[in-house]
Amino acid sequence: MSHDIPWAELARLAQQASEHAYAPYSKFPVGVAVLAASGKLYSGCNVENASYGGTTCAERNAIAAAVVAGERRFLALMVYTPQTQLTPPCGICRQVIAEFYAPDSPVRSCNHLGQQQEWRLDELLPSAFTPTYLANSNKI
Ligand code: THU
Repeated sequence: MSHDIPWAELARLAQQASEHAYAPYSKFPVGVAVLAASGKLYSGCNVENASYGGTTCAERNAIAAAVVAGERRFLALMVYTPQTQLTPPCGICRQVIAEFYAPDSPVRSCNHLGQQQEWRLDELLPSAFTPTYLANSNKI
């Protein structure tokens, strides 16, 4: 249930993670915190690379940290950026979120002004390609 989601704690963790962002090229720090179905929270920040293409987003790093800890199912995701315009996850991250979250999961963004915006995952990525398509494929 949405009201059971610890949004304030997620926002605090996401903000803390953003302080560790390695973003010397874009100067666009991002922090993300995720709530796993276990009830545990995990966080990540963006880690850029001189090759640019080697950059990983905060969303994918937070989810990867949780998967390393044994998590497979998630209930909520909070993005923090110190930007007046609230930032939703990028397209690649939406695909990675869809791997582990139910379509009706809440994804929120918050900023340094305490503003927040919420989307449903299936609003951000309608008709997502998910593992069910692989399971239903006719193997050649
Ligand atoms: N970034 C994220 O970490 N998450 C997003 O959803 C949007 C983009 C990062 C990648 C890069 O380090 C910087 O923000 C600018 O794109």
